[in-house]
Amino acid sequence: MTDYANLFRLDGKHVLVIGSGSGIGRESALALAAHGARVTCADRDLPAAEQTVAQGNGSQLVAYELDVLDDDAITRAVDELGDVDVLVFTAATNVRKRILDYTSEDFDRVVALNLRASFQLVRAFGKQMAERGSGSIIGFSSIRGTTVEPGQSVYAATKAGLVQLLRTAAAELGPSGVRVNAIAPGVVETPLTAQIKANQAWYDAYAQKGALGRWAGPEELAGAVVYLASDAASFVTGSVLAVDGGWTAVDGRFDPPN
Ligand SMILES: NC(=O)c1ccc[n+]([C@@H]2O[C@H](COP(=O)([O-])OP(=O)(O)OC[C@H]3O[C@@H](n4cnc5c(N)ncnc54)[C@H](O)[C@@H]3O)[C@@H](O)[C@H]2O)c1
Repeated sequence: MTDYANLFRLDGKHVLVIGSGSGIGRESALALAAHGARVTCADRDLPAAEQTVAQGNGSQLVAYELDVLDDDAITRAVDELGDVDVLVFTAATNVRKRILDYTSEDFDRVVALNLRASFQLVRAFGKQMAERGSGSIIGFSSIRGTTVEPGQSVYAATKAGLVQLLRTAAAELGPSGVRVNAIAPGVVETPLTAQIKANQAWYDAYAQKGALGRWAGPEELAGAVVYLASDAASFVTGSVLAVDGGWTAVDGRFDPPN
C-alpha cells in the first residue's frame, strides 16, 4: 500500500538549494525543510542565506557560501556537502535591453549565470546522483522560455536553452534513477522583478496578462519544488511545470464582446 498521507514528505533527504538567500529560493528552502528535508541553503550572499536559515525551524537548515560562477567552488561543494539527494537552483539574472542596445558583456554575464553555471551544476551533482542511483534536479526556467516581449532576448534564450539542457539531462540520467525537471514561473514579486514593481503601469500590465489577474508571491512557487523533490513526482522527469497564473495559456490582449 502506498502511504499517500506522506507522499510529499522529505524526511531523511538532503536538499541543496542554490539561490536560497532570496525570493523563490528562500521560500523553497523553508518549504522543503517544513516537509522534513535537511536543507543546505547555498548562495553567493552568505548573510542572506543565513537569514533564510534564521527564518526556518530548528536545525534542519544550514547556510553555505557558494558562487556558481566559480567552477572550482562547485567542485569543492560536491566534496564538502556529501550526498545531495535533491538539487534546486534558482540563481539567474536579467538585463532588460533591446537587442540593438545589448553589449557583448551583457550577453556574457546573462549566459554565464543562467546557462553555463546551470550546466556546471547539473554535471557536478548529476554525476554524484547517477553514481548513487537516485536523485532529483530542479531548475528554474520562466514564461520567457516560451513567450517573449521586447527586451527579453538573451534572458529568454537562456531560459529556453535551460529547458533543453534539462530535458537532455533527464534523458541521459533517467536510466540511473535521476529525475530532472524545470519549473517555469510567471511574474513573481522578488528582488529580481523590483524594477518592474517600481513602475505602476508596468506592474499592472503584467498583473492583467495572466488568467488570475495578479502577481505571485515567491511562496506560491514552493509547492511545485516540494512536489518535484518528493516521491509524489516519482514518474515525472523531463517536464516543464508552469506555475504562471495562466500567463502562457491566455493570449490576453483583447476580451472579445459576447
Ligand atoms: N521573479 C520572477 O518573476 C521570475 C519569473 C520567472 C522566472 N524566474 C526565475 O526564478 C528563479 C529565481 O528567481 P528569484 O526572483 O527568486 O531571484 P532573486 O534575484 O530573488 O534570487 C536569486 C538569488 O540567487 C543568488 N545568486 C545570484 N548570483 C549567484 C551566484 N553567482 N552564485 C550563487 N548564488 C547567486 C542571489 O544572491 C539571490 O539570493 C530565477 O531563475 C529566475 O529567472 C523568476
